[in-house]
Amino acid sequence: MMSEKTCRLWLPRLGELAPAACDTPQSVAEYELKAGCAALGMPAPALVEDADMGEAYAFREGGAGPEIVGGPTGLLYGAYAWLEAAVCGEALPEGTQKPFYGLRMLNCWDDASGDIERGYSGRSLWFEGGRMAWDDGRVRQLARALASVGINVLCVNNVNVRDEAALLIEDYLPDLARLAAAFRPYGVKLMVSIDFARPVAHGLDTADPLDERVQRWWRDCADAVWQAVPDLAGFLVKADSEHRPGPFTYGRSHAEGANMLARAIAPHGGVLVWRAFVYNCQQDWRDAKTDRPMAAYETYAPLDGQFDDNVILQVKNGPFDFQVREPVSPTLYAMPNTRLAMEVQLAQEYTGHQIDLYAMNPMWRELADQLPPETVDAVAAVGNLGRDWNYTGHPFAAVNLFGFGQYAWNPWVDPERVIRRWVRLTYALPGGQEDALTAMLLASRETYERYTAPLGLCWMVRPGLHYGPSPMGYEFDSWGTYNRADRDAVGIDRTSKGTGYAAQYPEEIRAGFEDLERCPERLLLFFHRLPYDYKMPDGRTLIQRIYDDHFQGAEEVDAMARTLEGLDLPQPDRDEALRRMAMQQANAREWRDVINTFFHRMSGVPDAHGRKIYD
Ligand code: GCU
Repeated sequence: MMSEKTCRLWLPRLGELAPAACDTPQSVAEYELKAGCAALGMPAPALVEDADMGEAYAFREGGAGPEIVGGPTGLLYGAYAWLEAAVCGEALPEGTQKPFYGLRMLNCWDDASGDIERGYSGRSLWFEGGRMAWDDGRVRQLARALASVGINVLCVNNVNVRDEAALLIEDYLPDLARLAAAFRPYGVKLMVSIDFARPVAHGLDTADPLDERVQRWWRDCADAVWQAVPDLAGFLVKADSEHRPGPFTYGRSHAEGANMLARAIAPHGGVLVWRAFVYNCQQDWRDAKTDRPMAAYETYAPLDGQFDDNVILQVKNGPFDFQVREPVSPTLYAMPNTRLAMEVQLAQEYTGHQIDLYAMNPMWRELADQLPPETVDAVAAVGNLGRDWNYTGHPFAAVNLFGFGQYAWNPWVDPERVIRRWVRLTYALPGGQEDALTAMLLASRETYERYTAPLGLCWMVRPGLHYGPSPMGYEFDSWGTYNRADRDAVGIDRTSKGTGYAAQYPEEIRAGFEDLERCPERLLLFFHRLPYDYKMPDGRTLIQRIYDDHFQGAEEVDAMARTLEGLDLPQPDRDEALRRMAMQQANAREWRDVINTFFHRMSGVPDAHGRKIYD
């Protein structure tokens, strides 16, 4: 078994990790180039710093040979780009290279206990038993990987700040400062999640954002935090969401709440990232008028233009919660005068728990096609990291961390190219095997989608766990997560004749979703309630399409298993991937049979091809 410290994610062919004595991005860049070029048997380019270039870099021919010119962090990014191009056999890009988004954030949902909420890769890399502790080599290895794809902010603790983790801004400060020092040479700044009601735990009788004592408390808090970590990126806040405290308790708006915190941290150059995940999680399922996906827009769109300049409103990519298929959140179109971040989830909460394969770049590319990338100012991803030997549970799940960095750098990046790069950097596979693994990962999302909840329905997962099928699991619950399947029809009408959700989009997009002919097929049941005999564009009935997708999805997983078997992957990756693939096969069969049986029982319609559906 490979020891923990030898896993270098997608950088196995570079030299050893730079020693801790390399404590600036420039010195890491120099070390990496020297060691990396020696490992690859090629001469190293010279580094030329141009402080004005910041995170940007360019390759050029100097008097004495090739050079990388860049700002302090730009040189580091340029060094990795150079080495990766060399390993991949790619030409160096021409012209100045700079990231599309200034903030490229990873949000880790780590608790001080060491647990990770929705973590599928082991325990926290930096918390255990209420304290901060970490393996220096592993943390720097991770910092190196993040730098190699340009991720520049890391939020270390869960957005659900539970009591012990709230200590983060007090007892934890010396440790936080040490952790920041480990990431700093790699151009990664730390961020912390805070608890909006924290002043109450410190003897104040309120956390009202308009109360002067509360404002002073936060200013003092910020002074202490930034004294310990002068380059802290900012605070992340989940307020009035899933039982977390927030401004609503005091009759204040979310702009008032966010601005109060933003003003406390502004003198230190911090950003206040405020999550927009606000909805009624205590809905009565009998209430068919309230439609959960409408909640964020209703709360935030009226506040457009009211947030301070150092506030970033972080909105999940879809209006629900990281389901396999959702439309882009309408809130993202509705706030032109607010700085926005789009939040995606690398942790495969609803997409296979890092057991099933689910490569995400194709999904993010679709987002870029639907929502002009310049609509948002930043991107954030819920992390998929943990203490497992390979950091991501499934060795292939690292493709999503790698791919997120590449997407944040360039949202139009071709998913096939990203996946192939990751495969080539991580494994030196012979012949057509690289093509086979690339194709398998590229198609993995569509396959997963076929065998799980059909056509944008969402939420047919086992409640709480969110792995495996349970078509009625969330049907009579309080989370606003219904499919309302009956013997005739399934889905929710979200057009103007139904809940009116579609009207939250700009007119042209609304019209497309509402029109059955133009609504994207994969979102049909998100926007429409349709009878089982509804004729799909290809002439099949809706029910037949559901059956076909589920049979096909499970067959595709069996084909993936055969492909995987034939790949000469290094150990322990091979055994780990095969073990998880067997679990994915079982999961896909379970989904196929449960969903097909469910709809068969509901509709009474047999499969046109007479395949086995259980009664
Ligand atoms: C989901 C997830 C929670 C998480 C929440 C959030 O609901 O299941 O674990 O806390 O999203 O994004 O805040």
